[in-house]
Amino acid sequence: MNLTLHVWRQKNASDKGRMEIYQARDINHHMSFLEMLDVVNEELIAKGTDPIHFDHDCREGICGMCSLVIDGIPHGHQKQTTVCQLHMRYFKDGDHIYVEPWRAKAFPIVKDLVVDRSAFDRIMQAGGFVSVNAGGAPDGNAIPIPKDDAESAMDAAACIGCGACVAACKNASAMLFVAAKVSQFAYLPQGQVERERRVRAMVAQMDAEGFGGCTNQYECEAVCPKGISVSMIAKMNREFGHALAKGEAKRRAGGAG
Ligand code: SF4
Ligand code: FES
Repeated sequence: MNLTLHVWRQKNASDKGRMEIYQARDINHHMSFLEMLDVVNEELIAKGTDPIHFDHDCREGICGMCSLVIDGIPHGHQKQTTVCQLHMRYFKDGDHIYVEPWRAKAFPIVKDLVVDRSAFDRIMQAGGFVSVNAGGAPDGNAIPIPKDDAESAMDAAACIGCGACVAACKNASAMLFVAAKVSQFAYLPQGQVERERRVRAMVAQMDAEGFGGCTNQYECEAVCPKGISVSMIAKMNREFGHALAKGEAKRRAGGAG
């Protein structure tokens, strides 16, 4: 198939950026979207032109690196699919496809389609570590965990930190990502020691990074390639309220808070 691509090109963070048109020729419909871009880039490199820069790593839907807004939707129109797993069979010969980077103040553009998502790393770092010594692989069922809690923790841990939720939100809110990361520990006994400190620190860092607030648009859930539910945000809000109340109770009792 042959396609016309409208791609955002931007030299660096201070460049204004613009859409440019490229032809993608002889594309096999079994290729992924990123493999299609590889074909376009090979042609650009052969011509001595600067290739289109985009983020990728595993190309298996597990690392969270790929990040393209395709025809206005982060990761494209296929539900629960990362852009590296989006195949060209979902497009038609002759299609015009618009390719842009995540757009959010907290994710500054580095070059073309590459954005700096280190704000997510700093939120994770603010959460700190789990101080329970996990030791070697424990015997199965050594720490009894209710099935529902174990499944909720696994659902939260499915978040790959891609940032599509931020890109889809009109407020550029990072609530779905942070909620998943808070919840994956809050559901498990190993995460209890720092439970209150962790949620307060991660929410504070999220705000410091310039992400917007959640106004229940549900756009994050709609584009999440891992199907993270907005119910995680409700869980995080409960965790945050509990942590604040506990801190206040300690303060009144003359404790550290
Ligand atoms: S919640 Fe979903 S969209 Fe947001 S970072 Fe995690 S996997 Fe990506
Ligand atoms: S490149 Fe790893 S999830 Fe897409």
